[in-house]
Amino acid sequence: MKTFGIVGHPVRQSLSPAMHNAAIKHLGLDAEYRLLDIDPKDPEELANFCYESDLNNIGGFSVTMPYKLDIMAYMDHYDPLAKIVGSVNTVVNEDNKLIGYNTDAIGAIQALREKTNLIGKKILIMGAGGAARAIAYSMKDFQADVHIYNRTLEKAEEIAKAFEIEAIDHSKIQTADFDIIINATPVGMFPNSEESLLHSDKIPSHAVVMDIITNPLETQLLKEAKKAGAQTISGERMLLHQAVDQFRLFFGQEAPVKVMEEALYEELKRRR
Ligand code: ATR
Repeated sequence: MKTFGIVGHPVRQSLSPAMHNAAIKHLGLDAEYRLLDIDPKDPEELANFCYESDLNNIGGFSVTMPYKLDIMAYMDHYDPLAKIVGSVNTVVNEDNKLIGYNTDAIGAIQALREKTNLIGKKILIMGAGGAARAIAYSMKDFQADVHIYNRTLEKAEEIAKAFEIEAIDHSKIQTADFDIIINATPVGMFPNSEESLLHSDKIPSHAVVMDIITNPLETQLLKEAKKAGAQTISGERMLLHQAVDQFRLFFGQEAPVKVMEEALYEELKRRR
């Protein structure tokens, strides 16, 4: 039996095991998907986990905070997208070689496309971390007019330069004509659930607003968006779609999307 899992800290609250184990069971695969908590206080633990992955029968793993950048040092190869985006959220063990991938970009695109067309749209991305970078890069195929805002302007400028998009200064942020607004910062995450980078008066009613936060699912930003009459997409949609692509990479076959989706919502209901 091959072991898969999620590497991060903390991982206790991860929704990934519910989705992947449901898909594994549905397809009758000889595998399990576990929580693989790695202590950030021990600098050797991540390295040892990677070096010993073959020994421990690890077929692959998801990577979450705080290791999406650190893990890159232990990869034998990268998928070109992971290299361009600069972070790895998926690792596949292929004949004792660790290959790093990034499925955040496809996850964001799929989540957005459930509600809107992306071609030619004016898009605002808030944040300049790994997720923001993946989303910014993923928009390049859609001839979209992409703008990026970040608390630290220099980081937004760096991404803007790399991906040929626009960086905007907070003081000059004019949201009135954006079609799509995406929060890729932790602002609004539990326990600071009352925070939002935008208030309803800044959100156009024709916009689609997506938050990548999954705790809570209805963030303050999404509440503000609803107040403004805009459409909303909560964080579990991106989580689902990045996991679906991850499953395909782990097992070399298409994931049973509906099964994973049902397992995700079951798990969310159980936790309420
Ligand atoms: P990721 O998981 O996507 O890699 P990250 O690297 O922690 O996340 O990045 C978080 C992003 O959210 C950063 O762009 C950060 O802004 P800075 O570059 O200025 O640090 C942004 N962010 C975090 N807290 C924020 C806050 N309170 N207000 C505005 N932006 C914030």
